[in-house]
Amino acid sequence: MTSPRLLRAALVGCGSYGAEHAKFLSACPGVQLHAVADLDPARAEQFRQAYGAGYATADVARIWADPAIDVVWICTQHHTHAPLAEAAAAAGKHFFLEKPLALTLADCDRIVAAVERSGVIASSGFKLRFFPAVVAARAFLTKPTLTVAQVIDDHWASDFWANDPVQGGGNVLSQGCHIVDTVLHLHPTGPVRVYAAGGNRHHPTRDIVDTAAITLTFADGAVANLAIGDVGVPPHTSKFALQQSDGARSFSLFNRLNSLMTRVDQQVTEHPAEVEAGAAVIDRPFLAAVAAGRPAPCTVQSARRTTAVVLAAVESIRTGRVVDLTAPPYAAAMQLP
Ligand SMILES: NC(=O)c1ccc[n+]([C@@H]2O[C@H](COP(=O)([O-])OP(=O)(O)OC[C@H]3O[C@@H](n4cnc5c(N)ncnc54)[C@H](O)[C@@H]3O)[C@@H](O)[C@H]2O)c1
Repeated sequence: MTSPRLLRAALVGCGSYGAEHAKFLSACPGVQLHAVADLDPARAEQFRQAYGAGYATADVARIWADPAIDVVWICTQHHTHAPLAEAAAAAGKHFFLEKPLALTLADCDRIVAAVERSGVIASSGFKLRFFPAVVAARAFLTKPTLTVAQVIDDHWASDFWANDPVQGGGNVLSQGCHIVDTVLHLHPTGPVRVYAAGGNRHHPTRDIVDTAAITLTFADGAVANLAIGDVGVPPHTSKFALQQSDGARSFSLFNRLNSLMTRVDQQVTEHPAEVEAGAAVIDRPFLAAVAAGRPAPCTVQSARRTTAVVLAAVESIRTGRVVDLTAPPYAAAMQLP
């Protein structure tokens, strides 16, 4: 019997979330963290030492040119996602790209086109889909009628890069995408219509949307309300929470979506809470897909749809109008393979 081939991985972007992936990759059997890269050479060198990478570089082109590297994690600011993803795909490297896919439809289209052209296996970073409690909730209630969901964080500093309109996009695009993605993932049909209210409540020096109340309608008539903002974590539900009902059954996800309660015939079941597994919860299924040559578990097409819905919500906030997702410029992004 032959043992599975060792996968050689590289990581681009040696920052705070890159560290989560590096920690997983440095301890994962069957994977060798071959290289780490960052524009800041000191950060790259610090990662090389901390996670035992083969080499550190500030020249990202060296990663694309290195024939030993099979798969690359891209954990950088959002405006760099499209060019880095295109470079990875052109070099034939499978890649994992942190969320959101990108901040504009044009950048999302570039990424999807590069993946489709090259045939590499590419995943976006929507890890909440893989939380055991979310997986169980999705199996429990397959045709939701009504959803209420939130990601409400504590205040972000205005000079945080994620609040930069170009690099990060602000709280709604940068972090709100997580709960929009989870809500889309928990519906069997696609979204057709968005209305949103909100705006910039706490960051007057930035041209961003930091607070949003979003109403989504799905093709099967289901509706969802989402609340997003860096306005103070609600103490009872936690930062991430989501509830759904289908007319007879319901569930509540809370404790950052690590805890699940289900209700059938007025009987409530409290399921054991899961321990949050960090980046491993999505890195593991992505690696399994790469090893098996299967499509990624969180496709770039599905992540483009998520960005498109958030952009449509921002458009609705700015114009005060309902946005039709079945019409241009959003319709193409609603199509999943
Ligand atoms: N999935 C999650 O729960 C989660 C949580 C936090 C952050 N993130 C995502 O992770 C990504 C990185 O966020 P972060 O908080 O780690 O940021 P960070 O600022 O801590 O780190 C980013 C690093 O990328 C480097 N970098 C930027 N452009 C580069 C380039 N062109 N080439 C090489 N290196 C470059 C920077 O020098 C920096 O060291 C973002 O997409 C963010 O949204 C995801």
